Amino acid sequence: MDIINELAKYKKIIDIELEKVIPNTDLFQKKVFEAMRYSIFAGGKRLRPILTLKTCELICGSYEEAMNIAMGIEMIHTYSLIHDDLPAMDNDDFRRGKPTNHRVFGEDIAILAGDGLLNLAYETMLEGISLNKIGLEKHILAIKEVSRSAGVFGMIGGQTVDIQSKDDVIEEKKLAFIHQNKTSALIEASIVSGAIVAGANHEQISFLRGYGQSIGLCFQIRDDILDRIGDEKALGKNTGSDETNNKLTYLSLYGMENSVNEIQRLNIKAMESLSTFDEKESMFFKELADYLAYRKS
Ligand code: IPE
Ligand code: IPE
Ligand code: MG
Ligand code: MG
Ligand code: MG
Repeated sequence: MDIINELAKYKKIIDIELEKVIPNTDLFQKKVFEAMRYSIFAGGKRLRPILTLKTCELICGSYEEAMNIAMGIEMIHTYSLIHDDLPAMDNDDFRRGKPTNHRVFGEDIAILAGDGLLNLAYETMLEGISLNKIGLEKHILAIKEVSRSAGVFGMIGGQTVDIQSKDDVIEEKKLAFIHQNKTSALIEASIVSGAIVAGANHEQISFLRGYGQSIGLCFQIRDDILDRIGDEKALGKNTGSDETNNKLTYLSLYGMENSVNEIQRLNIKAMESLSTFDEKESMFFKELADYLAYRKS
């Protein structure tokens, strides 16, 4: 499997659907639509919604039932980036290869664009219920999984501790909490929600959750590494943000060698979580884990 082509193919499928739910408008509030579209269509790997579609496909053979959940997750992720870049948070100027949302639209509209994406995410996920053949309950459970992971028990919780970690004393438990919550939780939910709408059983969900936790953590450790040694052009965002903000990161706490070793350990763990699935059918997930562990963007 050519993982790069496969990712590009699914990104295209998702972008066509996103275009339908976040339209250009001529309404009085058109500015907020413009700002939402600016960030969501700026680029972005679409890793999370691809995971949702691919997991749904792994379990039930097609991805359609997970499409609205996948779109909702990408909207939540994009809102989190717009807010993460604000001067009050990481104060960054570039994202997805373009000036950050507040740099173009101002802080007021950037905050509203984030809020707009967050609300539209839930509307879109709920709208998906009418397309669901498996049943109302499974769809609601999938949305519940996403909302918990994005909220105060997940991403918002992690972001809260992250911004308070400036100049913090070295603390291993706190760093694990930040990474698990600010990044890994939504990645885990992207996978688990796709499995739930597809009708996965408890055992399948539990193995997929394990896989999601491993690649999620691996993803943020790699993000910390790229913030130090990555190429700004390839990343589409400025490097050095963590150092400027004195953030508690894997690199600041454990150093480069240990961080790279941790990525390798998590990669092996992710592969082990896939052992229960058919080798051919789960090939995408194996190749993705490798790709993410050593990604450059
Ligand atoms: C960036 O996420 C924020 C983190 C959680 C590290 P991505 O690296 O997935 O960003 P996009 O969506 O591709 O822009
Ligand atoms: C952000 O982590 C996680 C989010 C929930 C947005 P970072 O602050 O390290 O992400 P980047 O490096 O700005 O993309
Ligand atoms: Mg941040
Ligand atoms: Mg940031
Ligand atoms: Mg970062």
